[in-house]
Amino acid sequence: MINRQKLQEQYLKEIREFEKNNPKSFELFNQAQKNMLQGVPMNWMVKWAGSYPISVIKAKGAHIVDADGHEIIDFCLGDTGAMTGHAPDQAVKAIIERVQNGTTFMLPTEDSIYVAQELERRFGLPYWQFTLTATDANRFALRIARHITNRPKILSYNWSYHGTVDETFATLNENGEVIPRAGNIGPQINPALTTKVIEWNDLDALETALKDRDVAAVLAEPVMTNIGIVHPEPGYHEALRTLTRKYGTLLILDETHTICTGPGGYTKEHNLKPDMLTLGKPIASGIPAAVYGMSKEVAEKIINTTTKELSDTGGIGGTLAGNALSLAAMRVTLSEVLTEEAYKKSIPLAEKFCQGVKKVIAEKGLPWNVTRLGNRVEYWFRQEPAKNGTEAANAYDFELDQYMHLATLNRGILMTPFHNMALIAPQTTIEDIDKHTTVFKEIVENIID
Ligand SMILES: Cc1ncc(COP(=O)(O)O)c(C=O)c1O
Repeated sequence: MINRQKLQEQYLKEIREFEKNNPKSFELFNQAQKNMLQGVPMNWMVKWAGSYPISVIKAKGAHIVDADGHEIIDFCLGDTGAMTGHAPDQAVKAIIERVQNGTTFMLPTEDSIYVAQELERRFGLPYWQFTLTATDANRFALRIARHITNRPKILSYNWSYHGTVDETFATLNENGEVIPRAGNIGPQINPALTTKVIEWNDLDALETALKDRDVAAVLAEPVMTNIGIVHPEPGYHEALRTLTRKYGTLLILDETHTICTGPGGYTKEHNLKPDMLTLGKPIASGIPAAVYGMSKEVAEKIINTTTKELSDTGGIGGTLAGNALSLAAMRVTLSEVLTEEAYKKSIPLAEKFCQGVKKVIAEKGLPWNVTRLGNRVEYWFRQEPAKNGTEAANAYDFELDQYMHLATLNRGILMTPFHNMALIAPQTTIEDIDKHTTVFKEIVENIID
């Protein structure tokens, strides 16, 4: 279907177009070489398609403006960090007010009470703690799980992603053995010592992994989102909960991406009952903030096994965690931005995006599929939606990915850099979606026979 020669030629053509249209970003990238590793503030920014990343000037709602003055439709939305749209007015106001009155004290502010209450209302768990990133929320949840269960291992899913959490950078090789994930920088130890890895949707593997009773916690996204969107099969979550309870393993659900399902994430929508829950990224309208929640039983065990004297050395913390600015931003986000109404706008638009892509795939007879979860849509280069991480990973096509990303960007559309994922903000318009459908069709036509 895909003509590889055409693909390579078109990619080179897109590169030339990109370089012609982005001279200011190029100039900034060159300046950045002097003092930043590979000329970027964050290592993975080198992965953007094109010869260099575009530099951003400003953003509002679902649009960003780059250094060369292009207004771009943003379907990346900071890979969920800006899922509420950039700079939502209500949040900007509350954030400015907080900044003017001090941002970090190592003391609580009243906002924390509202935030924790609202989190209980949405997710059902009574006790909450705050961090700056979802990575930290996951790391701390795992430490707590080990601490209160006295078990050495955790379980994660093949090709899952939970931030830079060492224990989860583990995949399965073709013999089913746990190995460090390719590209992982300097793992301290072989992750097989800390982590059991199984395929998503494989209940036999789950029971086999849990029955030795050495697994402190299962850490799972309720729907996999980091290797495409891989939904659970019917009954999977019920069985996951039953088996984790049966073998005394805690269930931690990571809602950092699946919050795209609705205001209470996939957990609320499907009445899931985790022991702990983690969430970061969009929860503070772009200000660094994340949370982890826990059941009464988990909270009691922590309280019974820790002391006031040693409470500052628990391997859990962060001077800026729970700071007043993050909390003010979370309060306004939960009360006025990440609301039921916001999802009522974004989810139908995501459905429209999905239908547009589906139509082109069908018209052209492409062996691709498109999946959706709430306001998140993803197309993937295999005929049927994947059932697990391996199936999805096997369809990964770097060359094709790079072309699709660059060709969309050259036509004023930004997709998430690591896969073909689009997030829809409440401020995204029907015109934005229609433009994507038109562009998608055009760039696909350029590379097929
Ligand atoms: C499901 C999930 N959890 C946690 C994280 C980590 O978030 P952060 O990089 O903000 O710490 C990510 C990041 O992509 C994620 O996808």
